[in-house]
Amino acid sequence: MPVISRIEEVRSEVAELAQATPTARELMQGVCQLLHERMLKYNWVGFYMLEPGVKPPMLGLGAFKGAMTPHTRIPLNQGICGAAASSGKTIVVDDVSKDPRYLACSLETKSEIVVPVFVKGEVAGELDIDSHFPAAFGTEDEKLVQYCAEVVGKKLEKSH
Ligand code: SME
Repeated sequence: MPVISRIEEVRSEVAELAQATPTARELMQGVCQLLHERMLKYNWVGFYMLEPGVKPPMLGLGAFKGAMTPHTRIPLNQGICGAAASSGKTIVVDDVSKDPRYLACSLETKSEIVVPVFVKGEVAGELDIDSHFPAAFGTEDEKLVQYCAEVVGKKLEKSH
């Protein structure tokens, strides 16, 4: 199946999941499961969420699918994860070995995308995806991952 149709299909599945899932926690688990299963190049999929009330701010590992990572807590001044959360911007890294910010999770990882999750306009966490393939995340992937982050942000807003 061409990658664009696959992405469209997965986007609809995420929309259905968001409708059917009552809590943000379950939705985050479901999104990780779905993206990991359906997208060939998404080899590690997980959420990092800002720990409430922690100063200086700290990202804590939430729902994820893939191998266990040594990075269960990441301060905002570290890693690609820290950079995405502190800037509020999507970061795509085509070759992690060339990015000095990169914190290694698996030796197999070649590229990464991190998309912030917003709740009421503020960064609440992020969706992080690693790939064993170089430059795995194109514009359409970026849109799909941003959509996933958006539905989770909306679900979190409802529970606040
Ligand atoms: N690579 C991330 C760390 C998280 S692991 O990929 C799961 C980073 O550079 O922030």
